[in-house]
Amino acid sequence: MTIQWFPGHMAKARRQVTEKLKLVDIVFELVDARIPISSRNPMIDEIIQQKSRLILINKADMADPVRTKQWVAYFENQGIRALPINADKGVGLKEIQRVTMEILKEKWDRMIAKGIRPRAVRAMIVGIPNVGKSTLINRLVKKNIAKTGNTPGVTKAQQWIKVGKEMELLDTPGILWPKFEDQQVGYRLALTGAIKDTLLNLQDISMYALKFLEAYYPERLMSRYDLTEIPEDVVELYEAIGRRRGTLMAGGVVDFDKTADLIVRDVRNVQFGPLTFDLDVLDDGDHEEKE
Ligand code: G4P
Repeated sequence: MTIQWFPGHMAKARRQVTEKLKLVDIVFELVDARIPISSRNPMIDEIIQQKSRLILINKADMADPVRTKQWVAYFENQGIRALPINADKGVGLKEIQRVTMEILKEKWDRMIAKGIRPRAVRAMIVGIPNVGKSTLINRLVKKNIAKTGNTPGVTKAQQWIKVGKEMELLDTPGILWPKFEDQQVGYRLALTGAIKDTLLNLQDISMYALKFLEAYYPERLMSRYDLTEIPEDVVELYEAIGRRRGTLMAGGVVDFDKTADLIVRDVRNVQFGPLTFDLDVLDDGDHEEKE
């Protein structure tokens, strides 16, 4: 794969997150419910270290709800609390404060025991681009101030935003980068819109989507494109979809680029229903499961 991330850029982002970590009691690590592992920075444990953490599995509305439950259990098995949320509609946000207090209870109890008056909990959001950090900040503060710090060249003192009575949130999220030496991770990031189309070949992304749908959600694939069966030959499959959906060139020949674009857009727009792509860890590599 010819994707280039810029090491200097990543190192800087990491430094910034590490600096901000010193200011907070807890980190809200935002992941995409469709790809809860692929949307993480693989060095996240090293970056966050011993700091308390809550994983927020965002965009839960776009993911398979059964799988999201399994992902919550998976993270909790690893000793990290996790909550599914939909930052866009504000679903699950009330839970954040409650679970945060549970996570910090021991630390707070210790402070109280020492006679220190409990203060507001300080939190920050971290996550890869497009995972919903600004949306969540805006939702939590209920007004549109999250993007004000993003203007290039404008340096701004760190600001705390009040979230309820007991919590304060850093107004700028920590941006971490996904890493995808693994090609599958690249395709999943592309299919969920986390990385730009130009970084990967659209036909390859659509092919990955078709193979995935065929393996895990064949009924949805057939129903979306009105197919009675899924042709074994992938060229025939593109042609069947192209003919059904009218992605044709002059002379009625199927346009493969247009068809690829249509498939990728259909996945991103949840036209196959909610999907979870990261299944390998949950299924232990078992790709036999069908609907
Ligand atoms: P970022 O700060 O982490 O970079 O992400 P941001 O909040 O900008 O969110 C990226 C996109 O994801 C936005 O869509 C936002 O509306 C959407 N989004 C955030 N949370 C949720 C959620 O829980 N459910 C759903 N369905 N969408 C969510 P956008 O502005 O339309 O951008 P794009 O989709 O065109 O990239």
